[in-house]
Amino acid sequence: MSFLQVKDKTFEPYLTASDINGQVQRLAAEINRDYKGKRPLFIAILNGSFMFSSDLFKAVNIEAEICFIKLASYKGTKSTGQVITAIGLDMDIHDRHVIILEDIVDTGKTLNEFLPQLHHQQPASLELAVLLHKPEATRYPVSIKYLGFSIPDKFVLGYGLDYDGLGRNIPEIYKLKEGAE
Ligand code: IMP
Repeated sequence: MSFLQVKDKTFEPYLTASDINGQVQRLAAEINRDYKGKRPLFIAILNGSFMFSSDLFKAVNIEAEICFIKLASYKGTKSTGQVITAIGLDMDIHDRHVIILEDIVDTGKTLNEFLPQLHHQQPASLELAVLLHKPEATRYPVSIKYLGFSIPDKFVLGYGLDYDGLGRNIPEIYKLKEGAE
């Protein structure tokens, strides 16, 4: 087993490129079946989801559109706390079948706060396609219709996911080495 050193942390191999591709193809097949004739609009959340979104979208063989957004959080009022806004959402999602593409759901806070804003714009439907979910870490409920892998509460990197900006280019997924936390 070959370990990977990124800055001060040591990672070990977790999911191979072939494992990932298998799940991505399965998710695309389910979406192709469920959205035929509905011209879904995929909204990919950058940066982490760029590789997942690209591979998934290549396997979508029905008429579909995609756009890319970034989420930014800023301090709101005392009652609203942190507010999450979308940067770059220039598509009208009213009456559209929307599928959000996200790399990982950890605590669920980001999507839990952002999704109601999209619901507000009255899409015809709104579902999530997520590559990785850490159920043990999730504190804010999010309902994931298309999920690649349910994983333990361990920090992972590769395939778009970073540790302090590094590791996004690795085609496999690594996890923090046991005992290295
Ligand atoms: P949440 O709001 O806690 O669900 O956080 C989601 C975001 O945290 C993801 O979009 C990632 O950018 C980041 N994140 C959470 N867990 C990991 C991880 O294990 N590796 C890399 N990034 C992570």
